[in-house]
Amino acid sequence: MISNSDAVERILISESQINEAVRSLAKKIDDYYAGRQSRLLLLGILKGSVVFMGDLMKQVRIPVEIDFMKVSSYGSGTTGGSVNIILDLLRKDLSETDILIVEDIIDSGKTLSYLVNYLKLKGAKSVRTCTLLDKPERREVDFTADWTCFVIPNEFVVGYGLDYDEKYRALPYIGVLKREIYS
Ligand code: IMP
Ligand code: MG
Repeated sequence: MISNSDAVERILISESQINEAVRSLAKKIDDYYAGRQSRLLLLGILKGSVVFMGDLMKQVRIPVEIDFMKVSSYGSGTTGGSVNIILDLLRKDLSETDILIVEDIIDSGKTLSYLVNYLKLKGAKSVRTCTLLDKPERREVDFTADWTCFVIPNEFVVGYGLDYDEKYRALPYIGVLKREIYS
Protein backbone atom coordinates (compact mmCIF):
# COMPACT_ATOMS: atom_id res chain seq x y z
CA MET A 1 0.00 0.00 0.00
CA ILE A 2 1.22 3.51 -0.77
CA SER A 3 1.33 5.50 2.44
CA ASN A 4 0.93 9.25 2.83
CA SER A 5 4.33 9.57 4.41
CA ASP A 6 6.09 8.16 1.33
CA ALA A 7 5.69 11.62 -0.24
CA VAL A 8 7.61 13.30 2.56
CA GLU A 9 11.33 13.98 2.10
CA ARG A 10 11.87 14.84 5.76
CA ILE A 11 9.94 15.86 8.85
CA LEU A 12 10.38 19.58 9.40
CA ILE A 13 8.27 19.97 12.56
CA SER A 14 7.31 17.00 14.72
CA GLU A 15 4.00 16.31 16.45
CA SER A 16 5.44 17.13 19.85
CA GLN A 17 6.95 20.41 18.64
CA ILE A 18 3.55 21.36 17.22
CA ASN A 19 1.75 20.43 20.46
CA GLU A 20 4.14 22.53 22.49
CA ALA A 21 3.76 25.54 20.15
CA VAL A 22 -0.04 25.29 20.17
CA ARG A 23 -0.11 25.21 23.98
CA SER A 24 2.15 28.23 24.14
CA LEU A 25 0.03 30.13 21.60
CA ALA A 26 -3.17 29.32 23.52
CA LYS A 27 -1.60 30.82 26.64
CA LYS A 28 -0.77 34.04 24.76
CA ILE A 29 -4.32 34.22 23.43
CA ASP A 30 -5.72 33.73 26.94
CA ASP A 31 -3.50 36.49 28.29
CA TYR A 32 -4.18 38.93 25.47
CA TYR A 33 -7.98 38.62 25.44
CA ALA A 34 -8.52 38.11 29.19
CA GLY A 35 -11.14 40.32 30.80
CA ARG A 36 -12.83 41.45 27.60
CA GLN A 37 -16.61 41.83 27.48
CA SER A 38 -16.78 41.24 23.73
CA ARG A 39 -17.06 37.84 22.05
CA LEU A 40 -13.91 36.18 20.77
CA LEU A 41 -14.34 34.43 17.45
CA LEU A 42 -11.66 32.04 16.25
CA LEU A 43 -12.06 32.23 12.49
CA GLY A 44 -10.43 29.32 10.66
CA ILE A 45 -9.56 29.54 7.00
CA LEU A 46 -10.62 26.34 5.25
CA LYS A 47 -9.34 23.84 4.69
CA GLY A 48 -5.71 24.14 5.75
CA SER A 49 -6.40 25.42 9.27
CA VAL A 50 -8.81 22.70 10.47
CA VAL A 51 -6.29 20.58 12.36
CA PHE A 52 -4.60 23.62 13.90
CA MET A 53 -8.01 25.05 14.85
CA GLY A 54 -9.13 21.77 16.43
CA ASP A 55 -6.05 21.61 18.62
CA LEU A 56 -5.92 25.32 19.43
CA MET A 57 -9.56 25.64 20.51
CA LYS A 58 -9.07 22.80 23.02
CA GLN A 59 -6.11 24.56 24.64
CA VAL A 60 -7.61 28.05 24.93
CA ARG A 61 -9.23 28.55 28.34
CA ILE A 62 -11.23 31.75 27.76
CA PRO A 63 -14.67 31.36 26.11
CA VAL A 64 -14.44 31.32 22.32
CA GLU A 65 -16.74 30.85 19.38
CA ILE A 66 -15.59 29.31 16.13
CA ASP A 67 -16.44 29.89 12.52
CA PHE A 68 -14.86 29.31 9.14
CA MET A 69 -14.33 31.09 5.87
CA LYS A 70 -13.09 29.54 2.67
CA VAL A 71 -10.96 31.43 0.22
CA SER A 72 -9.19 30.21 -2.85
CA SER A 73 -5.63 31.10 -3.64
CA TYR A 74 -3.78 27.99 -4.70
CA GLY A 75 -5.90 25.68 -6.88
CA SER A 76 -3.97 22.44 -7.22
CA GLY A 77 -0.44 23.72 -7.72
CA THR A 78 2.29 25.39 -5.72
CA THR A 79 2.01 28.95 -7.05
CA GLY A 80 -0.41 31.51 -5.61
CA GLY A 81 -3.12 33.44 -7.44
CA SER A 82 -5.65 36.09 -6.47
CA VAL A 83 -7.94 35.88 -3.44
CA ASN A 84 -11.59 34.85 -3.88
CA ILE A 85 -14.11 34.37 -1.07
CA ILE A 86 -15.84 31.02 -1.59
CA LEU A 87 -17.55 30.78 1.82
CA ASP A 88 -18.22 34.04 3.61
CA LEU A 89 -18.76 34.77 7.30
CA LEU A 90 -22.54 35.07 7.53
CA ARG A 91 -22.78 36.83 10.90
CA LYS A 92 -24.35 40.26 10.59
CA ASP A 93 -23.31 42.42 13.50
CA LEU A 94 -19.61 42.10 14.30
CA SER A 95 -19.35 45.30 16.34
CA GLU A 96 -18.99 43.36 19.62
CA THR A 97 -16.83 40.59 18.16
CA ASP A 98 -13.06 40.34 18.37
CA ILE A 99 -11.92 38.16 15.48
CA LEU A 100 -8.77 36.07 15.61
CA ILE A 101 -8.06 34.57 12.18
CA VAL A 102 -6.51 31.10 12.44
CA GLU A 103 -4.39 30.30 9.38
CA ASP A 104 -2.15 27.39 8.44
CA ILE A 105 0.61 29.25 6.62
CA ILE A 106 1.51 32.70 5.34
CA ASP A 107 3.19 32.57 1.98
CA SER A 108 2.73 35.60 -0.33
CA GLY A 109 0.72 37.28 2.45
CA LYS A 110 -2.14 38.05 0.05
CA THR A 111 -4.79 35.92 1.78
CA LEU A 112 -4.38 37.38 5.24
CA SER A 113 -3.82 40.98 4.23
CA TYR A 114 -6.99 40.77 2.14
CA LEU A 115 -9.03 39.09 4.91
CA VAL A 116 -7.95 41.44 7.69
CA ASN A 117 -9.01 44.38 5.59
CA TYR A 118 -12.27 42.70 4.58
CA LEU A 119 -13.28 41.85 8.16
CA LYS A 120 -12.46 45.35 9.40
CA LEU A 121 -14.67 46.78 6.65
CA LYS A 122 -17.40 44.36 7.76
CA GLY A 123 -17.27 46.10 11.14
CA ALA A 124 -15.44 43.65 13.42
CA LYS A 125 -14.47 45.16 16.76
CA SER A 126 -10.90 43.97 16.24
CA VAL A 127 -9.10 41.65 13.86
CA ARG A 128 -5.90 39.82 14.74
CA THR A 129 -4.14 36.88 13.11
CA CYS A 130 -2.31 33.77 14.18
CA THR A 131 -0.57 31.32 11.90
CA LEU A 132 1.07 27.98 12.45
CA LEU A 133 3.72 28.59 9.78
CA ASP A 134 5.30 31.57 8.08
CA LYS A 135 7.48 31.52 4.95
CA PRO A 136 8.77 35.12 4.95
CA GLU A 137 11.01 34.59 1.89
CA ARG A 138 7.92 34.25 -0.30
CA ARG A 139 6.21 37.49 0.74
CA GLU A 140 4.69 39.60 -2.05
CA VAL A 141 2.70 41.99 0.14
CA ASP A 142 3.87 43.40 3.45
CA PHE A 143 2.16 41.36 6.16
CA THR A 144 3.11 40.11 9.64
CA ALA A 145 0.85 37.93 11.78
CA ASP A 146 0.24 38.91 15.39
CA TRP A 147 1.30 35.40 16.49
CA THR A 148 3.41 32.92 14.52
CA CYS A 149 4.30 29.43 15.77
CA PHE A 150 7.10 28.56 13.32
CA VAL A 151 9.08 30.48 10.71
CA ILE A 152 10.10 28.02 7.98
CA PRO A 153 12.39 28.11 4.93
CA ASN A 154 11.10 28.39 1.38
CA GLU A 155 10.07 24.76 0.90
CA PHE A 156 6.70 23.26 0.06
CA VAL A 157 5.31 21.57 3.16
CA VAL A 158 2.37 19.25 3.82
CA GLY A 159 0.63 17.69 6.80
CA TYR A 160 -1.25 18.92 9.88
CA GLY A 161 -3.95 20.26 7.54
CA LEU A 162 -1.72 21.45 4.71
CA ASP A 163 -2.14 19.78 1.35
CA TYR A 164 -0.64 19.30 -2.04
CA ASP A 165 -3.44 18.71 -4.57
CA GLU A 166 -5.80 17.88 -1.64
CA LYS A 167 -3.51 15.11 -0.37
CA TYR A 168 -1.41 14.65 2.79
CA ARG A 169 -3.56 16.83 5.09
CA ALA A 170 -3.93 13.99 7.60
CA LEU A 171 -0.22 13.61 8.38
CA PRO A 172 0.25 14.47 12.06
CA TYR A 173 3.48 16.44 11.48
CA ILE A 174 4.77 19.09 9.03
CA GLY A 175 6.89 17.47 6.34
CA VAL A 176 8.77 18.74 3.30
CA LEU A 177 7.13 17.36 0.16
CA LYS A 178 9.42 15.40 -2.14
CA ARG A 179 10.29 17.56 -5.13
CA GLU A 180 9.49 14.76 -7.58
CA ILE A 181 5.84 14.90 -6.49
CA TYR A 182 5.29 18.43 -7.78
CA SER A 183 7.91 18.91 -10.50
P1 IMP B 1 -0.80 33.39 0.66
O1 IMP B 1 -2.00 34.20 0.32
O2 IMP B 1 0.15 33.29 -0.50
O3 IMP B 1 -0.12 33.83 1.91
O4 IMP B 1 -1.35 31.93 0.74
C1 IMP B 1 -1.41 31.18 1.81
C2 IMP B 1 -2.08 29.87 1.41
O5 IMP B 1 -1.31 29.18 0.43
C3 IMP B 1 -2.14 28.96 2.60
O6 IMP B 1 -3.33 29.12 3.31
C4 IMP B 1 -2.00 27.58 1.98
O7 IMP B 1 -3.28 27.09 1.65
C5 IMP B 1 -1.23 27.80 0.71
N1 IMP B 1 0.20 27.41 0.88
C6 IMP B 1 1.28 28.23 0.86
N2 IMP B 1 2.42 27.56 1.05
C7 IMP B 1 2.07 26.27 1.21
C8 IMP B 1 2.83 25.06 1.46
O8 IMP B 1 4.07 25.04 1.59
N3 IMP B 1 2.11 23.92 1.57
C9 IMP B 1 0.74 23.88 1.44
N4 IMP B 1 0.01 24.98 1.22
C10 IMP B 1 0.66 26.17 1.09
MG1 MG C 1 -4.95 27.86 3.48
